[in-house]
Amino acid sequence: MTDPIRTVLYGASDKEISFYQSLVEKHGSPLLLFDSSKLKQQYRALQQALPNVDLFYAIKALPQIDALKELDELEAGFDVASSGELDILLSLKVSGRRTIHTHPVKSDKDIRDALRFGSTTFVIDNLDELKKLQPYRGRVGILLRVSFRSENAKVDLSKKFGCTEDEVANIILQAEQLGLHIKGLSFHVGSQCETSDQHVAAIHSCRDMMLELNKKVKAPLSILDIGGGFPADYALESIDILEFCKPIRAALESLPDDWHIYAEPGRYLIAPAVTCVTTIIGKSIRYGMPWYYIDDGVYGSFSGKIFDHAEYPLQVLTEGKTSTSVLAGPTCDSIDIIDEHIELPELNIGDLIIGHQMGAYTAATRTRFNLLKEAKFIVL
Ligand SMILES: Cc1ncc(COP(=O)(O)O)c(C=O)c1O
Repeated sequence: MTDPIRTVLYGASDKEISFYQSLVEKHGSPLLLFDSSKLKQQYRALQQALPNVDLFYAIKALPQIDALKELDELEAGFDVASSGELDILLSLKVSGRRTIHTHPVKSDKDIRDALRFGSTTFVIDNLDELKKLQPYRGRVGILLRVSFRSENAKVDLSKKFGCTEDEVANIILQAEQLGLHIKGLSFHVGSQCETSDQHVAAIHSCRDMMLELNKKVKAPLSILDIGGGFPADYALESIDILEFCKPIRAALESLPDDWHIYAEPGRYLIAPAVTCVTTIIGKSIRYGMPWYYIDDGVYGSFSGKIFDHAEYPLQVLTEGKTSTSVLAGPTCDSIDIIDEHIELPELNIGDLIIGHQMGAYTAATRTRFNLLKEAKFIVL
């Protein structure tokens, strides 16, 4: 079966065209344009959609210093998964108290680095990981990640991590015997969720488990971390995050008032804040179809096409009669194709192709294959 034919966006205004062209004249191509006001807007919208939830930006989505600075100014928390991610926060003098370490599998060095930084909340999902924290008891707070497999998410994050619901009680009781306090549960129902059904089901399950466990344990569980999964608008359908989160808000209202709720959004916050500007560097006719080669591809900013199953909305700046074309990246590898069935007008070398919603899991996962020039990050 061939992929459906993809259309691109048209209708660029003269102002928009000269904006992109002047940036390329000044900085070269490819570019990643970061719009901090968009990030701020997304952050505020999610805060409004999830009131009383502490937001910890998942740095892995885009560990870019200007984005982190903006989030620091917004007083966001940060979800870190490695010592490298802590280092970048250290350079910004972010307090460790505003971070949670969410990687369920850690080395002793990861734990020591985090504690030195002041990050004291760690996520685990099995007894071996729990035991790693025993030498640091009294200094650490623990969240136990539970697996909820997702059918409606683009990226299932519960295959690799999270204990089963059946294992929860045993891990918590064992922690108590080791003198470790599990403060609550966490989950990630998968990235780019189509609906919030999975969040709601997971909140209800966690609530029931926590209430039941609180009858048995000495120190009660009082934190629920609902992870990420809030979607980016790749189809440009104007996703209404207030509406998306409505069932989540209702589910959270059923929790005791004194519980603390965390979330770890990555994609929703950062995807729309970055736009990719690429240039056509070659063209040919192959198998009867026009092929256009641009200066960024799946080994670069479009890496999310491979790792994240993402299709970014693309825009051309010229209009005309279209034909089904192939849009390929600049490396020597045949896998480096952004789209094999895309309706494009006749384009020329030097024309620009714009990728929207390209902040999350794009530059974060790019490689240096062929040692091609990486897209330059420009703060607007
Ligand atoms: C532990 C954890 N938290 C948060 C996130 C961010 O998820 P999303 O970008 O779907 O919001 C991820 C994504 O991989 C993750 O693994």
